[in-house]
Amino acid sequence: MVLSLKNKFTVCFTLLVFVLLAANCSGDAKKKEEEKAKLDSIASCNKPLNPNGDSELAMLMREMMSSASNMREMVKQGNLPDKFPEEFLKIHTAQPTDSETKKASFEDFADNYISNLNALYNSPKEDLTKNYNAVVNACASCHSQHCPGPLKAINKLKIE
Ligand code: HEC
Repeated sequence: MVLSLKNKFTVCFTLLVFVLLAANCSGDAKKKEEEKAKLDSIASCNKPLNPNGDSELAMLMREMMSSASNMREMVKQGNLPDKFPEEFLKIHTAQPTDSETKKASFEDFADNYISNLNALYNSPKEDLTKNYNAVVNACASCHSQHCPGPLKAINKLKIE
């Protein structure tokens, strides 16, 4: 079969449209996936990961995260480790990835977290769950202002 010039043009044009549509769709899907991955990631404050390595504050936060999830299991069983984690007091001085991260309200949120952590370690047994959740809320309230990326993971630490 011999196609006329006009038919050849129509075929090519149709193919081109399909190719463009396909490229555009997969581009959109990819963008959405990236967006979702960013939201789910615990290691993001809306910024790409630091190419110069992890900041002192980011590493401290990771320890706080794993300590909180251990604490969650202990509180559920009605126990707490007896030694207050002094190293978490470094929240005030630890260098963040981006110096602008520590805005004015940072210190207040940090104090609030430390005082709730203190209350948890001095908590009567019957208030353990309540005081534990108050610590998680202190994490979440700072994060809602300073670093929304890990919020989803933080909220999962709460005990229903
Ligand atoms: C006073 C504010 C504040 C409090 C309280 C706070 N965070 Fe953070 N968190 C930050 C900031 C700011 C960063 C970003 C650090 C950086 O990029 O240098 C961060 C980063 C993180 C990260 C990402 C670390 C990484 O790998 O980059 C996790 C996870 C995290 N915090 C969990 C927690 C948990 C769990 C708590 C409570 C136990 C908590 N945070 C309490 C401000 C706070």
